[in-house]
Amino acid sequence: CGIIAYTGHRPAVPVIIQGLKSLEYRGYDSAGLCFGHSGRLHLFRAAGKLNALEQKLEGGRVLHATSGIGHTRWATHGLPNETNAHPHLDVHYNLALVHNGIIENYQELKSMLQDCGCTFRSQTDTEVLVCLISHALEQHDSILNALAWSMSQVRGSYAFALLSKDHEGRIWAARKASPLILGAGTGENFVASDIPAFLPFTRDVVFLEDDELVEMDAGQWSVYHARTLNPVSKKIQRINWDVQAAQKGGYRHFMLKEIFEQPQVITDCLAGRMDRKHNRVTLTELEALPTPSRLHIMACGTSYHAGLWGKYVLESLARIPVNVEIASEFRYKELVEEPGTLYLSISQSGETADTLAGQRMVRQKGLPVLGLCNVVGSSVAREADSVLYTQAGPEISVASTKAMCSQLVMLYLLGLYWGQNRGTLSAREMSQNLLTLETLPQTLTSQLPDMQKRARQLCPEYSRARSFFFLGRGIYYPLALEGALKLKEISYIHAQGYPAGELKHGPIALIEQELPTFALAMQNHLLDKIGSNLMEVRARNGKIIALTNPGVELDIDEKWEIPQLGDPLNSFLALPALQLFAYEMAVYLGKDVDQPRNLAKSVTVE
Ligand code: G6P
Repeated sequence: CGIIAYTGHRPAVPVIIQGLKSLEYRGYDSAGLCFGHSGRLHLFRAAGKLNALEQKLEGGRVLHATSGIGHTRWATHGLPNETNAHPHLDVHYNLALVHNGIIENYQELKSMLQDCGCTFRSQTDTEVLVCLISHALEQHDSILNALAWSMSQVRGSYAFALLSKDHEGRIWAARKASPLILGAGTGENFVASDIPAFLPFTRDVVFLEDDELVEMDAGQWSVYHARTLNPVSKKIQRINWDVQAAQKGGYRHFMLKEIFEQPQVITDCLAGRMDRKHNRVTLTELEALPTPSRLHIMACGTSYHAGLWGKYVLESLARIPVNVEIASEFRYKELVEEPGTLYLSISQSGETADTLAGQRMVRQKGLPVLGLCNVVGSSVAREADSVLYTQAGPEISVASTKAMCSQLVMLYLLGLYWGQNRGTLSAREMSQNLLTLETLPQTLTSQLPDMQKRARQLCPEYSRARSFFFLGRGIYYPLALEGALKLKEISYIHAQGYPAGELKHGPIALIEQELPTFALAMQNHLLDKIGSNLMEVRARNGKIIALTNPGVELDIDEKWEIPQLGDPLNSFLALPALQLFAYEMAVYLGKDVDQPRNLAKSVTVE
């Protein structure tokens, strides 16, 4: 979910709506806002996307308020309907609350409040929280004290913002295990789940930590420790990215824009990290960490696929054994500690609950964690011992594209960096790798338009498929997984990625004309192997699209050629080809590319 709160000198509703638009990537199954005016709280909520809420606001006298709170929801408790949409009010209509996260003991608290005569309108844990605060106000002399008590009763994760009808212009907000950032403006202040929500108004931000509580009005803000209410002194940091960067820039969808930004992303990731004169990779962020003898990667979704790709590359370049685990599994396992292991959290958003929990588990044991994140100041980044930023810029489309590209570049650089430190790469190999990396953005820029055309050509025939296999071997196996995930996410065609050699152990039973295979068959030492696997598919009447290099002979239906850059560089062309294939299929089928059903960009619950 995404939350925003505003207090200042402008009409609050347009500021909140604008903020919610930039937070829609965090969830969009309902939205709402609330403001105080003339001694009353005014609440507007709607199921569905933000324009449903905007329609409700039309004609209403909504421009008077100069403070308010808003929410865009990704349902965790209760259906995504209007009743369950945020904000929620307490029984007396005195308080309004927006919340992101999960209150784990809400059933317990709900029964306690029901025993005290409280009635509930929704099935949400959020309504329980606002009623708890209201209940606390009966015993405490200030909202701050009531909040401190309430937070001591609540288990789980939350970021919330609270309005009170009796204190127009004042807002309280707090966080625990869910992101919340304060935007400090001139004569106006904000809190939001992410920076783009208030970036048009201020670049000065304060990153809030767990158990911190903010009280703010237009002219000032203060941060307190949530339990003791002792003041906490915070540093303002200046953000230097551009609002333009968070807009579509002429592309039909954010996803397409982000796919086409990949050459720039590669350039940005490489900037300052390659020393061509001495043929070395410089990663100053890593200087304080010893070169590990083992690496343990934890991540979710697309970031997990990047990690799996990293395993092949790091093991080959730096000869470091790498283990990769899905964070939601890893976090509940008994950790086997091995000396010399470095843990690597990969997360675009840096807020994925499972990845963060895995990282916290490791750090509690005093073991070192390196974060690979895109969002500066995110929880994964702040809590890691050291962080490498991926420099992909804000990624808006829910389906991750350029973030994965940036993760691959950084993993490649890590492989070269540790390879050079461990002496596993000769000077010639280093120089060759750096040279090809350097020319990569240009090659990719020249290829993208043709790739998009080729992807589009395939749509009329292949969009009829009910299901797809994606096959690859070696470094192309994780890319096959990613190709399948992209197709599923945005076109809703079922797809499964497999290591090509595994097909014969069961999945091949499904092969028939209506189940096509998308193969990654690059010119390398495994080409003959994957060639044989494709013959097995062909022999069972399966249709095949193969992404391959010029000169490769294969008995297939559709050959899609990309220039031969060698391994692992070909990955940086194969990845956008897979992304564009999914993109064009989704557009052809008329799907909502940037905001596919049931998904959220940043999943801050487990
Ligand atoms: C969500 C997104 C995916 C993303 C995953 C991990 O499920 O929809 O696109 O790969 O979270 O996100 P992270 O921010 O940790 O990379």
